Order: sequence, then structure tokens, then C-alpha cells
Amino acid sequence: MKFLRPDADTARLHDAVFEIASAARADAVVNGDLVVNATIGTLYGEDGKLVALKSVYDHYDMIDHRIKAAYASSFSGTPSFRSTVFDWVTAGKLNELPHTVIAMPGGTGSISSSFHVFMKEDDTVILPDICWSNYRTMAHMHFLNTETYQVFDGDHLNLSSIRETIAKVQETCSKVFLVVNDPCHNPTGYSMTDSEWQELIAIINKASEKTPVILLDDIAYIDFAYSRDPRAYMRHFRDITDNVMVIISFSCSKSLSYYGMRCGASVLLSKDAAAIEAADAVLDKYARTIWSSISNSAMVNFVWVIHDNLNAYLKERNSYVDMLKQRSDLFLREAEEAGLDLLPYREGFFITLRGHTKENAKRLHQALIDEHIYTVLLGENLRIGICSLPLNKVKGLAARIRKAISDNGLD
Ligand SMILES: Cc1ncc(COP(=O)(O)O)c(C=O)c1O
Repeated sequence: MKFLRPDADTARLHDAVFEIASAARADAVVNGDLVVNATIGTLYGEDGKLVALKSVYDHYDMIDHRIKAAYASSFSGTPSFRSTVFDWVTAGKLNELPHTVIAMPGGTGSISSSFHVFMKEDDTVILPDICWSNYRTMAHMHFLNTETYQVFDGDHLNLSSIRETIAKVQETCSKVFLVVNDPCHNPTGYSMTDSEWQELIAIINKASEKTPVILLDDIAYIDFAYSRDPRAYMRHFRDITDNVMVIISFSCSKSLSYYGMRCGASVLLSKDAAAIEAADAVLDKYARTIWSSISNSAMVNFVWVIHDNLNAYLKERNSYVDMLKQRSDLFLREAEEAGLDLLPYREGFFITLRGHTKENAKRLHQALIDEHIYTVLLGENLRIGICSLPLNKVKGLAARIRKAISDNGLD
């Protein structure tokens, strides 16, 4: 401890997903096909293997070695990457708004660097109560406090809870930093409606009369949304006041099956052009001092896919969106027949089963493991990764879960 900074937290990171995923793999070695491993958060095909898009990687393999070896031309990302990301992420809806794009090592880099450069130690960030647990770890590592809003009020977004949490934070803090993960919220698969977005922006604008407000929208799963125009809601960002900054955290991990390539971006938008300019300068330096530049060839390949291979990419990706939809349709249909209590799902990689209390959820999680069904325990809920479950594993799963609930008196 004497070598670390005195406030360093030396407790080991317990990653709920990695630990249970390795238990599932060990079980599969012994029990083979009996095992349902719904823990994995990456897209697997019907062949049970990780999806690596051909329309992305065939070209990547042909990229000149020197391009792979080279540093990127800028710490903020190559100019063509930055402009392509802006067009891809916002689909022409926000061209009029002052903006910048900074290349990031994945969505993780985008969210974490945003916490760091916009907030100082002991400030508070507002997170969803049901969320990707890494947000909390990131806040903790940057010595930030967290407040949470309730994501749901019944089957809809709890906008009152967001409004109240912002007001509470404004009593003691001089700035608001709100995180939403939309569309395809991890772990529930909820996507906000257009009117919920409109109302959220109105809430933020109102709050911005009192303090500056930063809204971070984590869109990690957007390219696997079922909706035809999952970016339609972004037009509401045009209505922000000049005391609001929007950060769109974009990740190529899911969009391009780029998980290990560590490539993404922060898209910053504000009517206050000077605020964008200042944030751009700080993030550029931040990048320089933490990871320098991101992978040159990952950026080059992203630009090529979007500009030169878009139709093939969309065709291939859409085939996997269809695959995901077939899985979720099947699970939802059977879950309804089995009377499972799910959190509201619209689209995306995960479906979440309500465990009601932490104790109940823990017992159900174990009861399912006893039946060789592996899910991710997240507080009071259990996450089922349909992204990695072939249809033949989805079939009958709801009934098996129902049986485990009944057999163990967990209704
Ligand atoms: C909700 C959410 N946001 C962001 C990410 C970031 O992923 P990456 O850092 O690989 O881009 C993930 C990855 O699992 C995620 O689930």
C-alpha cells in the first residue's frame, strides 16, 4: 500500500460476467449440450461461435502492414475517422449543431474519459439504477460520487425520478452529469420512445437554467436496434439550451464486431461553440497522455467499411439483427406462456428477468445453475444474453426457468 496513492482501492475487481461465464464454460466441458450459457455479452451466431463480420474483416486482413504499424496521424483520431463517425452516428440530423469527435478506445474510453475531464474529485454523476455495472466502477476510479435514478416506472421510463435526482444533485453540486444508455439499454433491452426523449430534453433544458448539464448517451448497441431509424430521437438534441452539452458515446465493438480492436469515439455537441472547442483541446491532451492514439488500422478499416462497403456491411449486419429478433421473439413468446416476469424489452442483446429481491434473485440464479442454466446476477435481476444463445438453446428456456422458479418456491 505504501507505493500506491493513499486513497487507492486495492480490492479486486469482481466482474459479474467474467466469473459466471467461466463457470458455464467449465460445466460445458462436462455436460456439453445440456448447458445454457446466457452470460456472454457478445454476439454469437447460430453455430455457437463469436460473430466476426466478413464485410469488416476481409478488408482488414488486406490492409498494408505499414498502415497497421503506423501511429495515427492525430491523438483525436484521423480526420476521415472523425468525420465518418460524426456522419454515421448522427445520420445528418445534427450538422447544424457545433460539435467535435474524439477517437476513443471503445465506448469504455469515451465514458471514462468524459467522467474524468468534465468532473472533479468528489463531484457526482447520475446513473441509472439498473445499468452496466462498469459505470459505477469508472465513477469510483475517478473518485466521483454517484446518485441513481429509477429507470422504470412500470413499463416506461421513470422521467419523474430523473427530474427529482437532477434536482437533488443541484442542491449541492454546481454541475449535472447524467448518463442514459439508449437505445437497447444494457441489461434490459429497453429503448426510450420518441416522446420520452422529447420530455427528457425538456427536463434537462429546465435544469440547465440553474447549472450546466452534461447528458451522456451511451449508444453502444444502437446498430443492433430493431427499429428502422434508431437515430430518429437525436433530432431532439437540436433543442438543447446553450448550457447543455451532449456526449454521445459511440462504440465500434458491437457495430463492427470490433470488441478487441478498441475503437470508438465521443461525439460532443453543444450550442456553446467555445465549450466544444475547450473540451476538444482537453480531450486531445487527455488522449495523448493516457493511450496516445487509438489503432490506426481500426480507424482506416471503419472508414472503408462505411464509405466503400456499406451495402455489404448493412446486408450482413441486418442478417444478424434478424437473427437476434428471432431469438428475442421466441423467448418473449415462451416467457409469456410461462408467465415469467421480465423487465420491459424492446430490442438488443439482453433480456432481464425480475428477481424481485436480491435474496430471491440470488436463490433463483443458483437454482438455474443447478439446472445448468447460466445467467448474470445483477442485484435484484438476472440478465439473459440472447446475443450468444442459438435458437435451439432459446427454445424451451423460459419453461425451464419457470420450472426452477416453481420447484424452488420462488414465485
Ligand atoms: C452499456 C455498455 N456501454 C458501453 C460498452 C463499451 O464497450 P467497448 O468499450 O467495448 O466499446 C459496453 C460493453 O459491454 C456496454 O455494455
